[in-house]
Amino acid sequence: MKRLIVLGIAVSVILVAAFAGITVYDEYMRFGRMWETPAIRPHETPLLVMGKESIPVDGGEAVLRARGAENLETPDRDRSMKRVFAGKAAYTRYCIHCHGKDLEGHGTVGQSFSAPAMDLKSPQIQDQKDGLLFSSISYGKNRMPTLATTVSVSERWDVIVYLRAAAANQTLAGR
Ligand code: HEC
Repeated sequence: MKRLIVLGIAVSVILVAAFAGITVYDEYMRFGRMWETPAIRPHETPLLVMGKESIPVDGGEAVLRARGAENLETPDRDRSMKRVFAGKAAYTRYCIHCHGKDLEGHGTVGQSFSAPAMDLKSPQIQDQKDGLLFSSISYGKNRMPTLATTVSVSERWDVIVYLRAAAANQTLAGR
C-alpha cells in the first residue's frame, strides 16, 4: 500500500513538472509552440493603386459586334509588304491548317469538312467587303469557327490585307 502511495506521488510530481516545463517553454522561450500565430487579415496592407488606363473603357469585342462588324472598314490604309507578311504570318498560324497553303481550302483539317473550307481567292470571297470577312473570321459563319477570342483584332485586319494581296498576286500564296 505504502509503495502504491509513493508511486502515485511520484507520477503526480512528474506530470506537474512536465506541465510546468511546457508552460515555461511556451510563455518565456523565444520559440514557443504555435499557440498563437500572426493572423494576416484581408486589407491590412493598403491595396495597390492601379495605374491610369488599367481598365479599358471603350473598344473591345462587344463594341465591335454591337457596331455591326460587317459594316467596318479596314481601319488604316497600310498595304505595305510588311503588313502583308504580318498577315501571312497570322494566316500561317491560325488559318492554314483549314484553308491550305494556297488558300484553296484543302488544308489538312479543312478538307475533312463538308462542305470543305472555302477557297479564299475565289470571287465569292473576294467580292465581299472587308467588314464582312472580318465578321466571318471573328464570329464564324456556317462551319467557319469563331476566332474572335483566338486572333487579335489587328491580326484579323492583317490577314484580310494578306487575303486581298494573295488573290491579286498568286505568288504570295504558298510558301
Ligand atoms: C477549323 C477550320 C477552319 C479554320 C481554323 C479557319 N477556317 Fe475559315 N472556314 C472554314 C470552313 C469549313 C469554311 C466554310 C464555311 C461554310 O460555308 O460552311 C470557312 C469559311 C471561311 C470564310 C468564308 C465565309 C463566307 O463568307 O462564307 C472566310 C472568309 C474564312 N473562312 C476565313 C478564315 C480565316 C482568315 C481564318 C484564319 C484566321 C480561318 N478562316 C480559319 C474552316 C476554317
